[in-house]
Amino acid sequence: MDDPARVERLLDAAVGGLTGPGCPPRLASALRHAVLGGGNRLRPRLCLAVAEALRPTRLAAAEAAAVAIELLHCASLVHDDLPCFDDAPTRRGLPSVHRAFGEPLAVLVGDALIVAAFDTLTVACVDDCDCAAALVALLARAAGTREGITAGQAWENEADVDLERYHQAKTAALFEAAATMGARAAGDVPERWRELGRRIGLAYQLADDLRDAVGDAQTLGKPVGRDAALGRPNAVRELGLSGALACLDERIAEVAHSVPDCPGRGELVATLERLLSRFRP
Ligand code: IPE
Ligand code: IPE
Ligand code: MG
Ligand code: MG
Repeated sequence: MDDPARVERLLDAAVGGLTGPGCPPRLASALRHAVLGGGNRLRPRLCLAVAEALRPTRLAAAEAAAVAIELLHCASLVHDDLPCFDDAPTRRGLPSVHRAFGEPLAVLVGDALIVAAFDTLTVACVDDCDCAAALVALLARAAGTREGITAGQAWENEADVDLERYHQAKTAALFEAAATMGARAAGDVPERWRELGRRIGLAYQLADDLRDAVGDAQTLGKPVGRDAALGRPNAVRELGLSGALACLDERIAEVAHSVPDCPGRGELVATLERLLSRFRP
């Protein structure tokens, strides 16, 4: 069952571990600010929904995967907001981490959360090395320099960028990780689930481009109009407002068709429909 409160409890526990004895107090505050200050938790919820649809006997590995994915996502947001990237003053309705704690701590928080994401997987799967290795590899791909977040952010430094490739790397890769890691943690073949994650991620970044163009900073809790101001490739610039909305509707409609057969398929489709219904700005 989709349970955002459970995700929050898992993240609280993870941040509690990171900020325990020995952690410098301002670093601890900055870590809590980065992870526990709101967020839709879409990626960990997708990960857990996929795992539960496979009806595993234990959910510990899937819970670790969900936490790892959200920690990596939070790291990507902290780094993305830095002055050398998008220079965003706010995130999740609060000052961005560098505005609240300064750039050095924001860089360290991002670095620490990336390391913590992988550590979470190895600690939780200590009794199942095959599972740990598989989950680490799936997450590393989503963070990586060819198909992952690093590639996505780096495309912003190239003269020629293909929009779908950019969206795929900066956003869809982590949604793919959510679906494939949830499946692997529940004992299934991860690649059966990649297309589902990809489609949700591409729809989500399209929705984010639309929100950036027509949304309201107060409601979103982050600045708007940044894609145009920074000259970022984006769906509204390429397709126009109505073209981007039509493309979003097509992408949302495609998602249900890519849910693989599994024991809890009906429940999973219903959960996804509920999450996707909030994508349209
Ligand atoms: C923001 O992601 C960055 C994108 C890839 C669009 P979310 O919209 O999921 O951000 P939070 O986690 O809810 O703050
Ligand atoms: C963020 O993309 C993707 C990341 C890898 C962090 P954006 O820069 O478009 O996302 P927002 O609008 O700042 O959340
Ligand atoms: Mg950005
Ligand atoms: Mg940004």
